[in-house]
Formats: sequence, structure tokens, C-alpha cells
Amino acid sequence: MTSAADPLSLVLVGPMAAGKTSVGRRVARRLGIPFVDTDKRVVAVHGPIPLIFEEHGESHFRALERAEVAEALRAGGVISLGGGAVTDPATRRLLLDHPVVFLTVTPAAVADRIQSGGRPLLAGDDPVGRWTQIFEERRDWYDEVASVTFDTSRRPMQRIADDIAAWRRELG
Ligand code: S3P
Repeated sequence: MTSAADPLSLVLVGPMAAGKTSVGRRVARRLGIPFVDTDKRVVAVHGPIPLIFEEHGESHFRALERAEVAEALRAGGVISLGGGAVTDPATRRLLLDHPVVFLTVTPAAVADRIQSGGRPLLAGDDPVGRWTQIFEERRDWYDEVASVTFDTSRRPMQRIADDIAAWRRELG
């Protein structure tokens, strides 16, 4: 596999609230490389995600997201993607030849993590039901891009980060 600027670069994908950001920060610290959250980059340049969805629609958001993913892959680091990035075929193609970690989580474990709002796709009165449906719709795409899978439901984020960093070092 080829990697970007940092030799230990890797990408994190997975459904909303799987722990991509909290695990990603810890993995980056362990590997001594930068952490990049592509959602945060989109927000920094274009403003809040709910507003982008509302004013321009999801496909516009996916295009902005794709551009940030491409840039992050060029620069390297531990790169955390938004949960829906894999729905975009061109974004999936960008991930070819990069080490990609798929973080999974159960609906039961996710229930506590999705209360804070800010995720337009989970708006409404059954966020866990909606989350589950969206995850099922996307599961094949996650599997398609993934080099390896880790579940975050039942173990501390620190331990999961240890395992991912060890996996990445072994990959070389
Ligand atoms: C989305 C996930 C969000 C964010 C946007 C859309 C999705 O990122 O990109 O709200 O389609 O699953 P997180 O996975 O970090 O919540």
C-alpha cells in the first residue's frame, strides 16, 4: 500500500458516533503524526454542516467533503472522515491504496453518543432508529474501502487506539 506524506498515515471511516474523532486523536498521538478531521475542515472553510445541508443540499456537502478528503490524503496524518463520505464514489476511489480503518459500533452503544445534535441526518424523534438504518445502507461501502475493522462499543477508546497504532506500525 502507498501512503501520503507521513509514512504512518491512515484513514478512519465508520458511521456517525463510532468514535472516529476520539480514537483518531489518540492514534495520531501514539504515531506522532497530525490528526485531521475532514468535517472540521469543511466547517472551518464553509460554515456549519446543518446550514450547508439546508442551503445547498447533501450533494453539495459531499463535493466539499471530497475536496477536503483529497487535500488531507495529500498532506497525510491520521485522517478522520465524516460518516457519509463513503457514499460518494469519487471519495471511495480516493481511498484506494490507503490504509483504511473501519470503526464499527452497536446501536445500543451509540444511543448515548448521539444526543448532542449537529447531525442533520439524525434530526427527528428516533435518532437511533435512523442511525441504524443509515448504517445498514452504507455497510457495504465501508467494507469495500476498509483494510481492517475495529469495534468501539465495549472497550475504552485508549485500548482501541493502542490496537490501531500497533496494527499500523506492523503494516509498515
Ligand atoms: C454525516 C456524518 C457527519 C457529518 C455530516 C454527515 C453522515 O460526520 O459529516 O453530518 O452522512 O453520516 P460524523 O460521522 O463525524 O458524525
